[in-house]
Amino acid sequence: MTGRKVLMTFPVTETSHTLAEYRARGGYSAVSRVLNAMSPEDVLREVMASGLQGRGGAAFQVGKKWAAMKDDGQPHYLVANADEGEPGTFKDRWILENAPHLLLESMLIASFALRVRNCFVYIRGEFDVPYQRIQGAVEEAYAAGLFGENIAGSGFSCDIVIFRGAGAYVCGEASSLLSSLEGTRGYPRNRPPRLTVKGLYQRPTVINNVETLSNVAWIVTNGGAAYKALGTPASPGTRLLSVSGHINKPGVYEIELGYSWSKFLHEDCGGVPGGRALKAVIPGGISSQVLTGADAKVLTAADVESLALDHAVLSKAGSSLGSGGMIVIAEGTCMVHLLAVMLRFYHHESCGQCTPCREGMGWLHRIIDRIIAGKGRPEDIGRMIAIAKANDGTTICGLGDAAGYATVAMMDRFRHEFDYYIANGRSMNGGRLECL
Ligand SMILES: Cc1cc2nc3c(=O)[nH]c(=O)nc-3n(C[C@H](O)[C@H](O)[C@H](O)COP(=O)(O)O)c2cc1C
Repeated sequence: MTGRKVLMTFPVTETSHTLAEYRARGGYSAVSRVLNAMSPEDVLREVMASGLQGRGGAAFQVGKKWAAMKDDGQPHYLVANADEGEPGTFKDRWILENAPHLLLESMLIASFALRVRNCFVYIRGEFDVPYQRIQGAVEEAYAAGLFGENIAGSGFSCDIVIFRGAGAYVCGEASSLLSSLEGTRGYPRNRPPRLTVKGLYQRPTVINNVETLSNVAWIVTNGGAAYKALGTPASPGTRLLSVSGHINKPGVYEIELGYSWSKFLHEDCGGVPGGRALKAVIPGGISSQVLTGADAKVLTAADVESLALDHAVLSKAGSSLGSGGMIVIAEGTCMVHLLAVMLRFYHHESCGQCTPCREGMGWLHRIIDRIIAGKGRPEDIGRMIAIAKANDGTTICGLGDAAGYATVAMMDRFRHEFDYYIANGRSMNGGRLECL
């Protein structure tokens, strides 16, 4: 048992994504309660009281973001971020495939609270079944009168559009997502102004992750205080985690925040296959910093396992729950090869707008490929760390910063592996990367 549940409260069947089954489980009763008995301010108050934090990476307070968007009587928007491009992350996909009406009902409630007339789901281009499911759910919802003009005679009107991206990682970043949604190149935008002031079509926009929004129906049904009572005081509620890598039972799990990491990995997820020891964990997608025992200033492997899964605890340990994409790494894995895979990804996905990221990711990728080819030089490590750190605070979006932090953490915490590779022209782990 990974604690109490908010999202995974039903068995997944062939038909759990349909309107009939969602309704049979009590679905859309939260929105009818809202439309009949609550004001937008009431909903906002419950969301504020819940302490819900964003599940897309930065864990920003949802109530605070919503309160920052002012209704000036002109169009303003709500967008669900379903890009889910962070490697190792596939938890929003679970919602889109198995509970698309939960997202739609929650978006209706959020749109009511924010007085939004038009909302959007921006979904990554590579998602096929998730797209079919959410688009199918929208069609069912329109046919049932759940979207459109004057919903259920309430006077509230709301339309929704599902927009398919073209498969760029950077388009998961909120401002580049909006550029892409507007039909232009998916370049991130400088802030200020914040997106809640100037977002889609230069109008105020709230953008939240799919999982973040999907909590709203439960919060409205059970009350913000009930949600706040789940998890820990610093990290209320539950989180979906997608677990992959060297683990016996990979998949998507819902944990109550504060749950024991050791219990989660060894009991719920079945531990590391083949009786191998746990070497490291990347807790929240490859852009979160790897946690391991190698660095004395951080943790021992046993410490990692005894941690509670909670935003505050992980931040103190030098990492984060990030996007919820947990990658488990067994003893014997070559971290030099792993970093090479990560840097190839960042180089490919850098949008090219900011020099430190555009050039830096290419330099890092080329140096690590040279190290892997057995032609590393002793000065490579210092140079790579300097290039990675040059992204810190110098790029428009967080891609460069996060890629830099992840690179430095990997090189710092597994320094001996990089030293060995450069000195000997080969991996101290036999070059093993396996399914990672
Ligand atoms: C390079 C990059 C990629 C991102 N990709 C995603 C993504 O795929 N999904 C997501 O929800 N947030 C992603 N984010 C975070 C978003 O910018 C934004 O913070 C989030 O969608 C806000 O929603 P939340 O407050 O509900 O977490 C990304 C950020 C960066 C810098």
